[in-house]
Amino acid sequence: MNINELIRPGLAAMKGYAAIEPVEILEQRTGRRIIKLDGNENPYGCSPKVYQALSDYSYYHIYPDPEQRILRRALEEYTGLSFEYIVCGNGSDELIDLILRLFLQSGDEVINCPPTFGMYPVSTDVCDGKVVDVSRDENFAVDIPGIKRALNEKTKVIFIASPNNPTGNGIIEEEVIELVGTGRIVVVDEAYFEFSNMTMAKLVLEHPNLVVLRTFSKWAGLAGLRIGYGIFSTEIAAYLMKIKPPYNINVAAQAAVLASLADIDYLRSNVAKITAERERLLTKLGELEWLKPYPSQANFILCSLHCSSGSFSSRQPEPSAPYHSEASPRCHSEERSDEESPAKRTWRQLRKKGIFVRYYDSPGLENCLRISVGKPGDTDALINALKEIEHG
Ligand SMILES: Cc1ncc(COP(=O)(O)O)c(C=O)c1O
Repeated sequence: MNINELIRPGLAAMKGYAAIEPVEILEQRTGRRIIKLDGNENPYGCSPKVYQALSDYSYYHIYPDPEQRILRRALEEYTGLSFEYIVCGNGSDELIDLILRLFLQSGDEVINCPPTFGMYPVSTDVCDGKVVDVSRDENFAVDIPGIKRALNEKTKVIFIASPNNPTGNGIIEEEVIELVGTGRIVVVDEAYFEFSNMTMAKLVLEHPNLVVLRTFSKWAGLAGLRIGYGIFSTEIAAYLMKIKPPYNINVAAQAAVLASLADIDYLRSNVAKITAERERLLTKLGELEWLKPYPSQANFILCSLHCSSGSFSSRQPEPSAPYHSEASPRCHSEERSDEESPAKRTWRQLRKKGIFVRYYDSPGLENCLRISVGKPGDTDALINALKEIEHG
């Protein structure tokens, strides 16, 4: 029996999401403690109150609340919006999928603005939609006229990450209003909101086709518990509550969110440390002649590598690989290739030193590294390692 013949044809050939590997696996493989700057995770972890809440919780044997009542109510104060506008997901990844399931019919189009977060095209493929790429400009700004030109009667959803992953820049309110004026569902993904303080959340009240996504993965250090939420018009929220899996938020994630919101000053002080460290990292990276770091409003910094100086002068850049947003699957290979780009070579040499970052070699992101902001000691170790690499 050939199982491949039974697979939905669109999915059989689909490229999956190139996810990062967990710390235990990386440490097992390298046999050492690593510095993990590849997942935009929070280097300070979660609130200590989360550990207490998880150990105090006594209903792990009972299903969670399918209506997410306690959680949605708890998010009212944080978001400034009443619970009818809020739906929680198993990470904001799940909400991306649910939104597409709600709005797409087979062959409907989704506007993606690369370089950006890789789950938008992956989830579109899974939902049998068609990804229409409208690339960002050379400063990574969203091409609003380009998006408008790409619209047709099949266009249902427009995704904009703000701040954008991996470029770190945001979109402004006027541009969002222009996009919602197209009448399509506009998803502003604010996974990094807390590091930028820019939000479009309140606009949802006036524009029912606007959706704002958020997550507890980054600012609150809960990436491993998978909890995100979205702010939707009450109509969309009601539909999502109907189509989502009934118990999509596990009780541990719920307990962790409540404990996090009860310790918000502590979490905000960590966010402040991260944004201060981001600026120090930006300066330090900028001091290396062969790197061009881009300013960021998130908890990571994108850098492109100049090939004209340092130890990379004689190397030719690799021809562009097909676009794959969150870094090509090749990035998981430990093998060395003679044709590898300076970014890949630097990525590989950093790995040897136990420092994990992400590299990109796709159109619009040729020869780039993305470095998550760590603790000050992580920055120092990274910069020292980059200097050693520079000198050969
Ligand atoms: C822009 C963006 N949106 C969403 C996510 C996914 O977040 P979550 O952990 O809540 O699924 C990420 C994760 O890296 C991201 O960068």
